[in-house]
Amino acid sequence: MAITDPKRYTVTAALIYANGPIHIGHLAGCYVPADIYVRYLRSQGRDVAFISGTDEHGVPITIRAKKEGMTPQEVVDKYYAQIDASFKELGISFDVYSRTSKPIHHETSREIFKNLYDKGVFEEETTEQYYDETAQQFLADRYIVGTCPVCANPNAYGDQCEKCGSALSPTELIEPHSMLSGSKPVMRPTTNWFLPLDKLQPQVEAFVNSHPEWKTNVLGQCQSWLKEGLKPRAMTRDLDWGIPVPVPNTEGKVLYVWFEAPIGYISATKDWLIQKNGTDEGWGQWWKEKDTKLVHFIGKDNIVFHCIIFPATLIAEGSMILPDNVPANEFMNLEGDKISTSRNWAVWLHEYLEELPGKQDVLRYVLTASAPETKDSEFTWKDFQTRNNSELVGIFGNFINRAVVLTHKFCEGKVPAPGELTDIDAGTLAELAAFPSRIADSLENYRFREALTHIIDLARLGNKYLADTQPWHVIKTDPERVNTILNISLQISASLAIVAEPILPFTAEKLRLQFGMQDHTWTDAGRVDLLATGSLIGEANLLFEKIEDHVIERQIQKLHDARRMNELEGKTVAEIKPEIQYEDFAKMDIRIATITEAENVPKSKKLLKLSVNIGSEQRTVLSGISEHFKPEEVIGRKVLYLANLAPRKMMGMESHGMILMAEDKDGSLAFVQPGKEIWDGGTVN
Ligand code: 2FM
Ligand code: ZN
Repeated sequence: MAITDPKRYTVTAALIYANGPIHIGHLAGCYVPADIYVRYLRSQGRDVAFISGTDEHGVPITIRAKKEGMTPQEVVDKYYAQIDASFKELGISFDVYSRTSKPIHHETSREIFKNLYDKGVFEEETTEQYYDETAQQFLADRYIVGTCPVCANPNAYGDQCEKCGSALSPTELIEPHSMLSGSKPVMRPTTNWFLPLDKLQPQVEAFVNSHPEWKTNVLGQCQSWLKEGLKPRAMTRDLDWGIPVPVPNTEGKVLYVWFEAPIGYISATKDWLIQKNGTDEGWGQWWKEKDTKLVHFIGKDNIVFHCIIFPATLIAEGSMILPDNVPANEFMNLEGDKISTSRNWAVWLHEYLEELPGKQDVLRYVLTASAPETKDSEFTWKDFQTRNNSELVGIFGNFINRAVVLTHKFCEGKVPAPGELTDIDAGTLAELAAFPSRIADSLENYRFREALTHIIDLARLGNKYLADTQPWHVIKTDPERVNTILNISLQISASLAIVAEPILPFTAEKLRLQFGMQDHTWTDAGRVDLLATGSLIGEANLLFEKIEDHVIERQIQKLHDARRMNELEGKTVAEIKPEIQYEDFAKMDIRIATITEAENVPKSKKLLKLSVNIGSEQRTVLSGISEHFKPEEVIGRKVLYLANLAPRKMMGMESHGMILMAEDKDGSLAFVQPGKEIWDGGTVN
């Protein structure tokens, strides 16, 4: 059962691996909704700790280090700095953004492990594990890849299949092979400490079953795990990167990353308090008090770890609270394809911030509008443009801009005093008053898409009110009436600044400054006297600007370029042909020529008939390039021309010589052109 009246909130957002930059899938799945929720809670005056950081251990880090030719430490330092900076720039308002490499985290997770060890919770077992004889290393987690026994994905990892979400152990993989050397691994005995999830199942089950209010995608995954029956899971690994196991004689063993990473939420809380107060005293109120509501924001690939394995650890530990909710999202696709780091099919946050400066709120808005809350969703640049142009510019920005501009035009830039209310005024104000609680209800229940539609509906209400009351006409006959209309329009605008703040914090800040709003909180939203009569309104400033086609086209092109580069990767350069002598080369008469005429050859798919000026004369060449170039694209081009190739008959015509072309990796052709203007007939030696 959800806690109904919590005293404080511990809100966590997944500790992402510090092995690469953040992309829109991470944002839509976890960080933007978490930030919206937290900003809303703060606006309600609730006591919140918003906790996150980077996960800096585990095989994903060492694999990346190997790929980039860096040490694991260099990798996590590089990506921590980049991720932290880009989150800040997007306005993700963590109270702390910590790292699992910090001593406080090592201490905390070793302490919890030791506590469970001393209580005899773990089962010590020597089992046969996969070992790579070439790399001389045990193959834990992602060091081993094979076919998923559940969905037949051939690239499932030793700990998890990312396609179907199943958590796996290496021995379940079909046809496993080592990620390190590609070799087939052998079995070797090793000792590890297992968390007996099988024995803890009744408590875990009771916990999950006490939350029928959880999202169906989350409950679905939990139920399927529980139905399968939980199995003991090793909480230690034979690896050299991670937190050493705090038990004597365990050299070469570290804590399992999925044991310690979620404990990172606890250590990050301590880190926050230390940074703030110089001591971590009081951390327990965020993790042990029953009236603290713990909420984990994550993506769907992390569900099992947050809903089953981490709670099982906490249950075994005994002194901590369990999550009240885990509102995990599904995945966001991009332009019709799965987002993929390795294929570079992604919109990277740091690049977005650089290429579309000042558009943080647009991204936050679009990712919320199409968030994968109940099923996988889709981001397209066209949709991004449409939502910006028709919703943010056309509805939200347009309404506030009109209210402000008219106030400057008719009321000297001051909030005018309202007169007597007509039916339409009273009706509009009644509607306004109902919005904040409607939006709050959506936000409180993790329905962020719905909250966003209510917010836009409130701006629509404002637009409709202006369209119905037409102050620009009424001013000629009844300026008093205009005062009332603009007062009401400004009150709606000010309410929008409050209720939109969780999603559009940068815009809300501009509005607060413009309207001179100070300590207004959520409870002020919907009030008819939010802005006092006579107070000054700043000049209209641009809240959102139209995004032109070329901006979008550039982003789409960038994706396609990335895809092409990716497809080309791995293709090999042709082998060098057998050696020749200079005399062999000198036999070729290559010269500069210009294509003067070009036409398709009837009934031929490949040939273009070209007329080329070779300086001394005009030649006809049949060239097999018509799948790559249209006749009009080649006329006027300078080319390299092999003049003394024996004539050939093709399609009943004679071809003289040959135009030299370069072939790209993907089979596309390019003309080879001299680097400066050279006269026709100039020779190439
Ligand atoms: O999927 C990931 O990137 C994991 N590092 C998330 C860990 S969340 C928590 F457990 F720390
Ligand atoms: Zn699978």
